[in-house]
Amino acid sequence: MRLLITNINKLCQTEHPDEQKFRVCGIEMAALPSIDNAWLIAENGLIHSFGSMADLPATYADKTIDASGRMVLPAWCDSHTHLVFAAPRDSEFVDRIKGLSYEEVARRGGGILNSARKLNEMDESELYDQSLDRLQNVMAQGTGAIEIKSGYGLCLEGELKMLRVIRKLKETGGIPVKSTFLAAHAYPAEYKQNKEAYIKLITDKMLPELAGDGLADYIDVFCEEGFFGIPETERILEAGLKYGLKPKIHANQLHFSGGVQVGVKHNALSVDHLECVGESEIECLKGSKTIPTLLPGAAFFLGMHYQPARKMIDAGLPVCLATDYNPGSCPSGNIPLLLSIACTQLKMTPEEAINAVTLNGAAAMELEREMGTIKVGKKANLIITKPIPSIAYIPYDFGNSNIEQLIF
Ligand code: NIG
Ligand code: FE
Repeated sequence: MRLLITNINKLCQTEHPDEQKFRVCGIEMAALPSIDNAWLIAENGLIHSFGSMADLPATYADKTIDASGRMVLPAWCDSHTHLVFAAPRDSEFVDRIKGLSYEEVARRGGGILNSARKLNEMDESELYDQSLDRLQNVMAQGTGAIEIKSGYGLCLEGELKMLRVIRKLKETGGIPVKSTFLAAHAYPAEYKQNKEAYIKLITDKMLPELAGDGLADYIDVFCEEGFFGIPETERILEAGLKYGLKPKIHANQLHFSGGVQVGVKHNALSVDHLECVGESEIECLKGSKTIPTLLPGAAFFLGMHYQPARKMIDAGLPVCLATDYNPGSCPSGNIPLLLSIACTQLKMTPEEAINAVTLNGAAAMELEREMGTIKVGKKANLIITKPIPSIAYIPYDFGNSNIEQLIF
């Protein structure tokens, strides 16, 4: 199948074949390389060629799309989600409006433990059907690659059930899916007095079981006061590394927890959340390959202060944005809305925010060789917008979809 797209008003986030751009850092994030009045050919799901309309070659195509007035971008890469869950938590949302904090809700047995109860009651096929529905929903909003975590099972069977559902989504979803093992999301109630036993369950029982089946690509820990401290996080990450699972961790969401430092020490692919970040965290990230991934949708929904994106970009870091789609802290996987929050609240420019959810999002899932830019040989997972005046219009027009067509 050969698809030709012509008269593209702006072909955004292009990359030259000789370039080896694996992430965009600091000041470079302000630029979104693009070609005005462009064409693109996709063949058998890959980007075959592209250029300026002035140089459109004589060529055949099975299908032609006239994209006059429209922008074409690489699909979004959402590198942090908890999209597999059994039920919404709208009653906790109301409790929080009335004054309870996210941590108080969790201490009362709500939060993650509430989601775990529901998930363990639901059968696998229903969980899959619901999750596929959510995946298709975010794909319709332009997401073309996604990471999905376990972490609502909190027991061997529940975690395996989630990871099998994610594996099935990988097989059937139609876009690249990465899977992360997050049994260290919260201590189940029955282990509250014996936390050591739960850590042993993760390291000695769950990990060998799932690693043998290749059910996970990465390992995650909710490194946070009241959840998993630094020594526990280190033990779990070290156990995961023995099975080849690189860390991608929840760090510095609610407190200055030391999560950034422990992630960098263990060569985490990314440290995610980062509401509580100061000079020492930024310094630590500067000397590393770890990608700082900001989840401002969670800060928005929990009414917390936002991540210091400007300081991180000014320090030269490859800032990434992801949705954190989950039933508790961010029940939205909508990347255009995330872009609006990043621009209005984190003061990222539209170009910086788009770099953060394309190439840097791909890099935070080790998909930078196949996704994240318009480059010959990469996957032709593309967004064609409606007629819009500028790229800034996408975050500007918040709450509305400006996507006309998706090529996946
Ligand atoms: O990234 N903070 C930890 N985990 C999720 C929320 C999980 C939940 O509340 O269900 C997050 O915000
Ligand atoms: Fe999360």
